[in-house]
Amino acid sequence: MRQRLRHPTTLLAGALALLAVLLFGALIVSEGQRRDEVWVRHTLEVQNDLSRLLSTLQDAEAGQREYVLTGQPRFLEPYRRAAASIAGELEGLGAKIGDNAHQRGALARLRPLIQERLERLAVGSELRRTQGLAAAVEYLVDGRGKSIMGEIRAEIAGMNQREATLLAARQATAARTRTIQQGLLAVGAVAFLVLTSFIVLDSARQVGRMRRSRDELAAVNERLTAEVLGRERAEEQLRQAQKMEAVGQLTGGIAHDFNNMLSVVVGSLELARRRLRTDPDRAQHYIDSALEGAQNAAGLTARLLAFSRQAPLAPRPLDPNKLVGGMSELLRRTIGENVEVETVLAGGVWRVNVDRQLIENALLNLCVNARDAMSEGGNLTIETSNTSLDEDYASAQSEVTPGQYVLISVTDTGVGMPPEIIARAFDPFYTTKGVGRGTGLGLSQVFGFVKQSGGHIKIYSEVGRGTSVKIYLPRWTGEAAGDAAFAPATTEPPPRARDREIILLVEDDERVRGVTVDSLRELGYDVVQASSGDQALQQLAQQPRIDLLLTDIVMPGMTGRMLADQVLAQRPDLRVLYMTGYTRNAIVHNGVLDFGVAFLQKPFSAEQLARKVRDVLDGRGANR
Ligand SMILES: Nc1ncnc2c1ncn2[C@@H]1O[C@H](COP(=O)(O)OP(=O)(O)OP(=O)(O)O)[C@@H](O)[C@H]1O
Ligand SMILES: [Mg+2]
Repeated sequence: MRQRLRHPTTLLAGALALLAVLLFGALIVSEGQRRDEVWVRHTLEVQNDLSRLLSTLQDAEAGQREYVLTGQPRFLEPYRRAAASIAGELEGLGAKIGDNAHQRGALARLRPLIQERLERLAVGSELRRTQGLAAAVEYLVDGRGKSIMGEIRAEIAGMNQREATLLAARQATAARTRTIQQGLLAVGAVAFLVLTSFIVLDSARQVGRMRRSRDELAAVNERLTAEVLGRERAEEQLRQAQKMEAVGQLTGGIAHDFNNMLSVVVGSLELARRRLRTDPDRAQHYIDSALEGAQNAAGLTARLLAFSRQAPLAPRPLDPNKLVGGMSELLRRTIGENVEVETVLAGGVWRVNVDRQLIENALLNLCVNARDAMSEGGNLTIETSNTSLDEDYASAQSEVTPGQYVLISVTDTGVGMPPEIIARAFDPFYTTKGVGRGTGLGLSQVFGFVKQSGGHIKIYSEVGRGTSVKIYLPRWTGEAAGDAAFAPATTEPPPRARDREIILLVEDDERVRGVTVDSLRELGYDVVQASSGDQALQQLAQQPRIDLLLTDIVMPGMTGRMLADQVLAQRPDLRVLYMTGYTRNAIVHNGVLDFGVAFLQKPFSAEQLARKVRDVLDGRGANR
């Protein structure tokens, strides 16, 4: 492309140079003509001077002759004029022919001849005046005067001739150079015309070429776009296939674990039913084990939700050092005696805004993994520090925003992981531990929680040396809330109703509604129930003394949120408590609850229900 563009530029420069040469040539031609004119004028002047000189002399000669014949002095006038002017005339002529040696020589010969001629005239005139006509005639008839005059004429004619020859030679040379120059000018002009027309033609050709290559480029571009589209489609199909594989693995894992738990529940309940009459104690035992199975299943769904980043989060600003410090005793107990636990807490560590329970859970998971990797014993180190992830690092990772983070790392001196295990360690249900020893949900849950909290997680490991799992949580720069101490599980009995408060329960699932009604009544509450939003509004109209609206969120027709909005418009003082098993909905944005919204995650125990209802009625309990 460049090569092509340079071509007309060179041509154009050539044409301009040629134009300059032409102009210069024209200047030289006109200058030559001017010089020629000067020379012609000069020659004419010289010839003019020569003929004037000759006629002055002839006048003087004629005058003297008449004076000799008549004796009248007035005829001497031309002679006197000639004698006076001749020196000046010779001087002027000498100046004009000074550059020509031949002419200078001729003038030098002329001077004495003229001098002698004038002297002879003077002598003749003097003889006439003093001795009379006869004496003068005698002096004059010797013919010397005539011969001098002849020489003078010959010299002057020679000079005239030389000037004429010179002029002819000069004119001939001038004519030659002019012809050459004019020829050059004509050739130049023709070349200039040819060159410019060539440039015009060439530009037109180039435009044509450019058009063609533009069209070719457009065609190539189209082909490329089509290819890219095809590839994208193929990649999309591959991704889809991989997703299906992951989903298959996930559902298989869930089904397997749930079946195990369900068999415990179902088996225990069957046994309980058989023993209910005959052996109530034994039946009680089976019911307890069924309950345990159900609770395990609830635990499994909680872990799955955490992995899918849908766990309801209740983030609070907290000090990571206090968190780790508060947990270290629990960790030591969990991990056992042949592992040395050390905490290294950096000073001035920033706060983070995370769900306390979930971060504790995550650290516990990491520590349990570390313990499992160190069956022979070893060292476990938990560290905190401030750090920042820069653009370069962030762009090399997926889903990482550059910025300031608090780093919590859990490092062990265990067996370590080869790269292929690291690559799969976060996958749900991926475990290398034997059947019944690991579910493979630990790291996937930690991963989901960290991502949901806007953080980043990374595993560094070397086989045979150990592993370091690093959790980066974004620095919290907002206001600090009070750091609640690590809360141990309470053993107090569940709180009950105070003044027979009335609860309006809205739930479309009949069985869940039945169980919830029973639990609430047992706690001493009066319960009004509805299976839909519309029914709830009717109930509220009939029973205005309701204290709490306990509503499911996802229901056919009116959602719990819409219901609450309408109810609150009529009864702004009414307390509202939402419940749902599904969290990605109206009250949850990006997995974080609306601030100030009271919420109960399904499935819940009777005790959790009792505490939450009490909290909300007493004006606490937002967000959990
Ligand atoms: N600190 C560690 N050292 C060596 N390997 C580890 C470590 N942490 C995790 N792994 C490997 O990653 C796998 C997945 O870990 P993850 O915590 O998800 O599941 P798990 O520990 O096997 O099961 P669960 O946590 O449900 O009991 C583990 O089976 C183990 O192979
Ligand atoms: Mg684990």
